[in-house]
Amino acid sequence: MNFLASPLHRKLCSLFLHHGHLGMGSARSSVQNPCHRRLRQLSYYKAGLVTAADLVNYWQDVFEANKIPEPQESSEYIVSHVLGAKTFQSLSAIRISAPLSAKELEHVEQLCAKRLQRMPVQYVLGEWDFQDLTLKMEPPVFIPRPETEELVSLAVDEERKKRLNSAGRRDPWPFPPSHGPVILEVGCGSGAIALSILKKLPHSRVIAIDKSEAAVNLTKENAERLNLQDRISVLHHDVCSGSWEWLLPCGFIDTIISNPPYVFHEDMTHLAAEILSYEDLDALDGGDDGMSVIKEILNLASYILKDFGSIFLEVDPRHPEMVKNWVRSHPDLSLFLSATHKDFCGKPRFLHIQKNGRKNHRGA
Ligand SMILES: C[S@@+](CC[C@H](N)C(=O)[O-])C[C@H]1O[C@@H](n2cnc3c(N)ncnc32)[C@H](O)[C@@H]1O
Repeated sequence: MNFLASPLHRKLCSLFLHHGHLGMGSARSSVQNPCHRRLRQLSYYKAGLVTAADLVNYWQDVFEANKIPEPQESSEYIVSHVLGAKTFQSLSAIRISAPLSAKELEHVEQLCAKRLQRMPVQYVLGEWDFQDLTLKMEPPVFIPRPETEELVSLAVDEERKKRLNSAGRRDPWPFPPSHGPVILEVGCGSGAIALSILKKLPHSRVIAIDKSEAAVNLTKENAERLNLQDRISVLHHDVCSGSWEWLLPCGFIDTIISNPPYVFHEDMTHLAAEILSYEDLDALDGGDDGMSVIKEILNLASYILKDFGSIFLEVDPRHPEMVKNWVRSHPDLSLFLSATHKDFCGKPRFLHIQKNGRKNHRGA
């Protein structure tokens, strides 16, 4: 799907899910809207008379009148979805100008009614793309954000680099083909990160954990839909429980990856109405300093990560300095911040932390 990586997709996701639009829009009945009256005059509800282009314009006007964020994109995504396409641009000229059936009109109306209640368009459609995967979306499981695609790319590039380096040195590949890298994802949500990694690294295995049962179930369902279930173990586990012995049968972990809850608690009230009303807030709230789960992941890493293993984290732009200082003040963890990477908005967003060669807590 092209639109995932497109500026439109990024704009839609970032604007809609991260910024502004505080407070619920008054989801007034579209019947009160002048545009609705105009369309009623056009015999809106008579199938065979209204085209996709008419509908997009109509619902865009209704969304605008009701102060729904991204009115045009919302309208286009919903109409295209009902017509079996990912984007309005991908519909043929004939389809755009052809009249819709009564069933299609009703479906559009049902979905637009949800959007009028400020439901994120990803939940309205029931699916969303992340990298080259189409994932089922279901409230309240966290909707993957476009910047997280870059986190996946960083981890995948690092694994590929290791492979090339070991080939260059004529070392045996550190992960025999049958036993590729073992990657732990903390907080898998819909499975976006874990499943993308499995798709991109065909020899990898992933252990994905989440403290939310809904997330665990959705990751399992998405894994099966994508036929990736054989290389993933999805576990219901709270990383803050302090236990790690359950991971012993997996051996030491090559890489830990996480997009943890990292919003500073005091910032939670500033999130968009779409998030506050529909998404699991435990997926976002990182406590007073946004680091409550991050610290637990780093603690866990000292027990289960291989020497020179990597941790890739998505964080708030204030965190790189805070994490660097925290890691320095905990030398017993044998971790160091090896790189900070910016997101597509130029904000420091991704951390690469590594374990040094000293003994870990398990005495390896
Ligand atoms: C920001 S979401 C990321 C979801 C997914 N990885 C993604 O990027 O789309 C954070 C996820 O961490 C989970 N989570 C929060 N606290 C956790 C904890 N203590 N232990 C395990 N998972 C946790 C949430 O349920 C949520 O699914």
